[in-house]
Amino acid sequence: MALSTKSFEIFCGTGGVGKTTLATARAQNLADSGLRVLLITIDPAKRLKDLLGLREEAVGEVVPVEINGVKLHALLMSPEKTIQRMSKKYNTPDLEGNRIVQILSKPYGGMNEILSMVELQMQFDSGLYDVIVLDTPPGAHFLDFLESLNKISSFFDQNFIEIFSYLGQKTARAGKKFFGLNFINKVISGGVKKLLTYLQSVTGAQFIDDFIEAIHIIYQSREAFLKGISLKEKLKSKKECNWFLVTSIEQGKAEEAIEIRSHATHFIHQDHYLVLNKCLESKLSNWSPQNEDLTKIKNSLELKEINLKKQLKDLFPVVLEFPEVMSLSPNDHLLHLTKTWKSHAL
Ligand SMILES: Nc1ncnc2c1ncn2[C@@H]1O[C@H](COP(=O)(O)OP(=O)(O)OP(=O)(O)O)[C@@H](O)[C@H]1O
Ligand SMILES: [Mg+2]
Repeated sequence: MALSTKSFEIFCGTGGVGKTTLATARAQNLADSGLRVLLITIDPAKRLKDLLGLREEAVGEVVPVEINGVKLHALLMSPEKTIQRMSKKYNTPDLEGNRIVQILSKPYGGMNEILSMVELQMQFDSGLYDVIVLDTPPGAHFLDFLESLNKISSFFDQNFIEIFSYLGQKTARAGKKFFGLNFINKVISGGVKKLLTYLQSVTGAQFIDDFIEAIHIIYQSREAFLKGISLKEKLKSKKECNWFLVTSIEQGKAEEAIEIRSHATHFIHQDHYLVLNKCLESKLSNWSPQNEDLTKIKNSLELKEINLKKQLKDLFPVVLEFPEVMSLSPNDHLLHLTKTWKSHAL
């Protein structure tokens, strides 16, 4: 299977295997071939920021960057900034002002994943890029989230439409602050009413008002959320998305990759790539150790790697190998890995 370029290229995998470095190298490689590339990271660790030498002010903004002489754009996701862009694009200024939305859109606030989908959709819609390369946070969490997008869309199902059309009439007549407990008493079922009344006694009326207002505002912004959710179909499609499941030859990492894939079998389509990073085999084969102990080490490392590759080639449709770059400099890693991407694309 030839490695062709798709509108979306997603890098996922467990911690420290090289997702960010390989995604950056891939973005550099694609930009070097003349494509308009946006590299997005939703990794809150922000390693990309260091790798690209970006300043704090750049976080959350689409910024032009130059990597080893190649020009592209990069975005270090910041949920708050995405909310601001959404408010502007979909003309829902209340989204920015609500306290609950602000809490939910803090890093780890619970809305990060859905906001990253909305951001991805907004950037795709801009028509400014041929390819969007996405670097995801470590682990299966992001994939679990994608799997559960259907649950989010049920938030906007018919029941909500009925409730909010009722709410809309009330607020149109009496101003936004009208609802709150008054609204709860009229519309919501007994169980939920009890819960909210209890919450009010613990948190105060202001919280309940903010909470209901947050739901209302999110509902008003449903177009943006639903568009983000619909992106799922593109990411599932072989034609529109390349999935790179990254792992490295370190002990146990490959099992983690297999585990991650098993979390998202409905999501990561069949033509995905396993990216095996930090391979030593080519270096080892050029090494002629001078004593018996070193020879044993060489043979053992070689055998381990050959066996692992054999096992992975049985389990994954395509395995792309990337070498361990013998340098401590992240820039050297990028330079070498970009060349490897080029050779894989041939
Ligand atoms: N092929 C390679 N050879 C040598 N070092 C590498 C290679 N690939 C990545 N590295 C280095 O390994 C470290 C981890 O890489 P990176 O941050 O890209 O991993 P990650 O999977 O994004 O990590 P995290 O899960 O924390 O986001 C970095 O220091 C990086 O420079
Ligand atoms: Mg990373």
